[in-house]
Amino acid sequence: MLDDNEKLYPPSDAFAAKAHADRATYDAMYQASIEDPEAFWAEHGKRIDWIKPYTRVKDTSFAPGNVSIKWYEDGTLNVAANCIDRHLETRGDQTAIIWEPDSPDDDALHITYRELHRNVCKFANVLKSMGVGKGDRVVLYMPMIPEAAYAMLASARIGAIHSIVFAGFSADALAARINGCDAKVVITADGAPRGGRITNLKDNVNKALLHDTDDVKCLIVRRTGQQIAFRSANDFWLHEEEEKVSADCPPEEMAAEDPLFILYTSGSTGQPKGVVHTTGGYLVFASMTQKYTFDYHDGDIFWCTADVGWVTGHSYIVYGPLANGATTLMFEGVPTYPDAGRFWAVCDKHKVNQFYTAPTAIRALMGQGNQFVEPYDLGSLKVLGTVGEPINPEAWNWYNDIVGKGRCPIVDTWWQTETGGHLLTPLPGATATKPGSATLPFFGVQPVILEPTTGAEIHETVAEGVLCIKDSWPAQMRTVWGDHERFEKTYFSDYKNYYFTGDGCRRDADGYYWITGRVDDVINVSGHRMGTAEVESALVAHPKVSESAVVGYPHAVKGQGIYAYVTLMGGEEPSEELRKELEVWVRGEIGPIAKPDLIQWAPGLPKTRSGKIMRRILRKIAENDYGALGDTSTLADPSVVDDLIENRMNR
Ligand code: WTA
Repeated sequence: MLDDNEKLYPPSDAFAAKAHADRATYDAMYQASIEDPEAFWAEHGKRIDWIKPYTRVKDTSFAPGNVSIKWYEDGTLNVAANCIDRHLETRGDQTAIIWEPDSPDDDALHITYRELHRNVCKFANVLKSMGVGKGDRVVLYMPMIPEAAYAMLASARIGAIHSIVFAGFSADALAARINGCDAKVVITADGAPRGGRITNLKDNVNKALLHDTDDVKCLIVRRTGQQIAFRSANDFWLHEEEEKVSADCPPEEMAAEDPLFILYTSGSTGQPKGVVHTTGGYLVFASMTQKYTFDYHDGDIFWCTADVGWVTGHSYIVYGPLANGATTLMFEGVPTYPDAGRFWAVCDKHKVNQFYTAPTAIRALMGQGNQFVEPYDLGSLKVLGTVGEPINPEAWNWYNDIVGKGRCPIVDTWWQTETGGHLLTPLPGATATKPGSATLPFFGVQPVILEPTTGAEIHETVAEGVLCIKDSWPAQMRTVWGDHERFEKTYFSDYKNYYFTGDGCRRDADGYYWITGRVDDVINVSGHRMGTAEVESALVAHPKVSESAVVGYPHAVKGQGIYAYVTLMGGEEPSEELRKELEVWVRGEIGPIAKPDLIQWAPGLPKTRSGKIMRRILRKIAENDYGALGDTSTLADPSVVDDLIENRMNR
């Protein structure tokens, strides 16, 4: 059944015939995965190589007070060996990584699996020589260069746990993450070129480690050749250290449930939490989704435009594709440099087959006009993907018509840092798509929609409420680093016996899922997840700010923009200068992605008599929808609302 404005886009017969899964295969495999998860995942666990095979498959519980998630628990393996060594015999000379630099005038690199093996082994031995061993934490603060992938795989090879901090985060945010996991080594570069400009990464690391008392070491990749300040005896150049080590580094035997990485992500309260992913289940799921969601076939060129600082880069630039023996493209630059045709130029240049990006990028490029797409031959493209936020039908149609020329199935993949891989997604040869819907669950995933207040599961097909997942899947996060209680509280306490995603969702008559956005205080700015609490705490850390409340509002390109209400300290006067000062301040505290788009001076914030800020009202005003404020009678001082409406910034 279709709503009036819903059009179905089924895969062509020709596409379905060659795909890993057509509709019948998807239905049968999905059914099997739900009826007998043990048997299904026992079978599909074999897609990766185990040193010691598992005999136990699934041991998971969402029970209150006893949340515990284990997959393939008694198996042992090494992720780097799966991503590299096992391909050497059959595809040693195949390109593993294509690297496209920031400037189109510089040469791209093609790194074969054999070269990748050598580079990763050397890198791993350098880390060992710096005292890094199994279970130690390594922080990466890197440009999008092959060495970022080497560093990830080198950590995995020796059993260290990496925590990547997106290079757009500030020195303060970096320091918090270094301390949060007690990192032994920080891996960085002298500088990171992006869009023709250079971020001084090593400077930021120096700032982050200014008060370090733990002798954190720093390993530096030379990227730009710029002058950098060395800190005493704890800093090392990668190229110098590599000369001192051998290229022989046997992979460490890891238990399936040993941590592979930590990745900090924003939540609705407090500071970011360290999401922990482990070794076996994560790799099974990342590689399986990469194969099926994108219908990846041997020899295809796969390009995910994310940054390795986000989970998308972990699962779909590095681990998923390389575990499958794919050729994965890594792009250092930005979509609009030197002009808005760069993505399409790179697709044409490297004959990309599967292309995976974020709606915010699609909207930005759509706004620049079709003349940036037209000069390029996009005939190699087979599948287009999106991730990170709901895609509006206008952007979906542009992607479909102008980029895909109506030939390429679009996979709108819904998932989260916490989920490790796709949970809701079309399969390109199986699923008829609808613009704006992430469609159906991946194998083994049981989505449910709950009534938000009662928590009752809605069994009717047509439903709207909060999205939860009923049972575990292999790449589910296992815990919050150092704080299992927070893990349980965040994801398993609002709705007992379910994993709570934080997203609102609608299910239509065809059983298709439509994500309606976060139901908590997380906002999604250009596909980047941001906790409003983080921006608030950055703002109130400024000496002139007494109070602040931050909400999201609809933004044509970014999806959501950051709207900050700021109350100043007594005696401070609002001014344009102060507005600029606060913007710069937030950039310094968190990073450029957290800079408020709109700052409204608020003499007071709407609060209940018990002092709780009524965010619902602030959201409505920010959305310029103040006619629908609802009940304001519980406010301590209803008159503050009139002032906020009067001086609203988004008109
Ligand atoms: C949102 C990114 C709609 C959602 C992989 C989720 C999406 C949050 C989609 C996770 C999509 C991600 N459609 N919304 N296809 N994909 N989201 O942790 O709100 O950075 O909860 O992971 O992004 O963001 P995160």
